Amino acid sequence: MASTGQEREGLRPDPAVMVLFGASGDLAKRKLIPGLYHLYRAGLMPKDFRIIGSAPAEVGMDEAAFAEVVRTSVSTFGRKEGAGADFEGFAGRISYCSASTPDFSGLATAVEEARKETGADTVVFYLAVPPPAFVPVITALGESGLSERARLIIEKPFGYDLKSAKELNRAIHGAFPEDEVYRIDHFLGKEAVQNILALRFANGIFEPVWNRTFLEYVQLDVPEMLTIEGRGAFYEETGAYRDMIVTHLLQVLGFLAMEPPARLDSHSLNAAKNQVFGALRPLTKDDVVFGQYEGYLKEPGVAADSKTETLVAARVWIDNDRWAGVPFFLRTGKAMGAEKSVATLGFRVPDLGRFEGSAVPGASGACNQLVLDLGDPGSIEVGFLAKTPGATMDVAPASLSFSYAESFNVRYELAAYERLVHDALLGDRTLFNAAEGIEKLWEASAPLLMDPPPPIGYPQGSFGPDEVNKLIEPYSWNLG
Ligand code: BG6
Repeated sequence: MASTGQEREGLRPDPAVMVLFGASGDLAKRKLIPGLYHLYRAGLMPKDFRIIGSAPAEVGMDEAAFAEVVRTSVSTFGRKEGAGADFEGFAGRISYCSASTPDFSGLATAVEEARKETGADTVVFYLAVPPPAFVPVITALGESGLSERARLIIEKPFGYDLKSAKELNRAIHGAFPEDEVYRIDHFLGKEAVQNILALRFANGIFEPVWNRTFLEYVQLDVPEMLTIEGRGAFYEETGAYRDMIVTHLLQVLGFLAMEPPARLDSHSLNAAKNQVFGALRPLTKDDVVFGQYEGYLKEPGVAADSKTETLVAARVWIDNDRWAGVPFFLRTGKAMGAEKSVATLGFRVPDLGRFEGSAVPGASGACNQLVLDLGDPGSIEVGFLAKTPGATMDVAPASLSFSYAESFNVRYELAAYERLVHDALLGDRTLFNAAEGIEKLWEASAPLLMDPPPPIGYPQGSFGPDEVNKLIEPYSWNLG
């Protein structure tokens, strides 16, 4: 795995050309362009590089309009303004070339020129486009010869089900060898998510208790406060399960549940995750609650009788020796009562009889828990019972905590997309997903997606319908 900060010299990628498909889209504007500018300012872009923005001709973008997109997206969503010598240095390396499938000949000429100017050996194609455009763009890259000596970064959703994921993988492999494919899941670019690996595998105090002998349950709770906010048409096709669970939450579960990987490289990490994904008990509606926030049906682009879920709570089982009998509770949803990303490990409670008379919370209380806040910046809290001062042997909940912001100099911190784009420029696939793992996740999801539960209404600003709480009894959700 590429390391951070201190070895900055070793972290400069070789000269590169990056083609950004979907240059006029939301992801490019909000995350990718400001992220690339931050990498540039941090000295983490190649010494020489070109970025070519691209979109189909019908979008009607040209060089000048794209230059304006770059400037405003940096000013609006970046850490620094889109002005000054630094910015001009960055903007001077960016151009635009419209390209409509299947004819990529104009783009091929632009890429060839950029290669010559920079001496770049590798071209990175970033597919920040809507899912229906994935296969046509990849096919055109293959047929135009652009996929040779090139890498492909591809966004989620990675398919709609097992069949479409396999088709997508087939199309990709028709143009790019698997070694050059970077399936991005930005949750794996988050510092606090990567820290799960450090916490588990760099410390003698956590890993030995990270199993069914000591743990009673694991929770991964990712409530979001925003509604679907104008993304009705996209969301109707996707829903919370495909948007969040089969991608982000199950990938994080892979980190939480994996066996120690042989090495921290792409092959070992994906092999360790795939073992977990292969051991997932197929999900069915008996283990899942779907919710739909009140008011969803009135959102633009949403069908009046839509059954699309905006919230999912799931009880997931991993049928292997480490986790047999330990439920993993996952929850995420839109328009909920908090904006958080928290993993909680609940430890088995010792016999507390000797502390009779004390206010000892049960297994579902705040003690006996390891709580990983996976937000930005993240934190970790260990909840336990301590003796209260005085002449009794009463105990009360106490905690030990670590916070990134307070404990470390976050000067070298990279946002999730920055970290992953930089890794892709370096040719480091450690934090990217492999075809096999993604197909295993769709396989485990198939029974649920074929026969989903009807969504239950929940008020906006809540933590879901009551059924969400019943699903995990006798435990309770750490948040709300
Ligand atoms: C995206 C989903 O992949 O992740 C969004 O499509 C979701 O629906 C987002 O809001 C959450 O990401 P983050 O980084 O804001 O937690």
